[in-house]
Amino acid sequence: MHNKRILLGITGGIAAYKIAFLIRLLKKEGAEVKCIMTPASCDFISPLVVSTLSDNPVGIEFWNKADGTWNNHVEYGLWADVFVIAPATANSISKMASGACDNLLLATYLSNKSKTIIAPAMDLDMYVHPTTKRNLIQLEEDGVQIIPAESGFLASGLEGQGRMAEPETIFNYLKIALSSSEELCCKNILVTAGPTYEAIDPVRFIGNHSTGKMGYEIALALANKGAIVHLISGPTNLTIEHPLIELTKVTNAQEMFEVVQNKWEAMDGGIFSAAVADYRPKTVATEKIKKSSDDLTIELVKNPDILKWAGENKKSNQLLAGFALETTNSLEYGAAKLQQKNLDFIVINEPLAGKTGFGSETNQILLLDNCNNLTKFELKSKSQVADDIVDYYIKLSK
Ligand code: CTP
Repeated sequence: MHNKRILLGITGGIAAYKIAFLIRLLKKEGAEVKCIMTPASCDFISPLVVSTLSDNPVGIEFWNKADGTWNNHVEYGLWADVFVIAPATANSISKMASGACDNLLLATYLSNKSKTIIAPAMDLDMYVHPTTKRNLIQLEEDGVQIIPAESGFLASGLEGQGRMAEPETIFNYLKIALSSSEELCCKNILVTAGPTYEAIDPVRFIGNHSTGKMGYEIALALANKGAIVHLISGPTNLTIEHPLIELTKVTNAQEMFEVVQNKWEAMDGGIFSAAVADYRPKTVATEKIKKSSDDLTIELVKNPDILKWAGENKKSNQLLAGFALETTNSLEYGAAKLQQKNLDFIVINEPLAGKTGFGSETNQILLLDNCNNLTKFELKSKSQVADDIVDYYIKLSK
């Protein structure tokens, strides 16, 4: 957000009072904020509050009566990195959809060169009225991004969908819009993460020490650049919340495989980081196995190689990356996996005792692509490593 220029349009709805919090959030993160208010919005929040918090004069009319100067809507439009209108009332939405420009905010919308995002706010019946729905569809077709209204108590005393999204939510949408990469924006990307647990009996399983951290960081890095992420995760203690991440939790390799098989065709690509168990018990005991004999042999059968399947079913427009977890000869084994699994690139974990691998906060990687380009990276935090992987993914998508 640092030095990003946010143009904030405020229209006349009760949710306007919450905009003070949005301006505070943006300023705290180092953004520059300029505000335009419709005359009606001044009944809901004082321009003095908006001006003081944003540290800029507020544009309301086409001209300033005091000194006769013009509020140049074209300049506002050229200045902004993003234009967000919150709250956006049914009335303003309707005028935007029809091209009316009878106030400074609407004229700025028509002149704006940057992305426009709106956060509608109105009563529940107005929100679902066919006219409003039609206007919102029109705006979406015109390239406007809509932050859906939330459900809850409304100023009318009724309860339902129509509340403006909370300032934190609007802030997150702005963050995504500003860091969005052209190559990733609205692309569907599948990420696998975490371990798989292969049941032995109702209380025991074969697993590994993966915490899922690397995969979750990759999912976040992709989503922060505008991708729609389908994160398929084995059992972990991690939580993840992001408007662009859809999380599917699975337990074992077979379940992970089924979800991947269902989704893969519709994906633009995937980064497979899960530590999938290669084998599972041939049979799962229905009751807890008792310690009756001195030895116990469990027969194992091979699990499907999920990444290999995705590589075999990869279309020319899909980009696929996998991981190689090795304890020795990492480059040699990694290169073989790249070939065998038909990948575009592979992330090879460099084994460094205590500093990389499962459960560590840091990782050191090599990236090898299918043109034999090898890139070495320093030891970094897993979130920085995720950024490097996603940047490489973007580079290969171009
Ligand atoms: N992988 C997978 N399904 C499996 C095994 C691995 O999708 N059944 C994926 C992992 O998510 C990773 C890559 O394949 O992206 C390599 O995993 P790794 O454990 O390093 O290698 P394996 O292919 O399992 O081979 P080996 O265990 O013999 O090193």
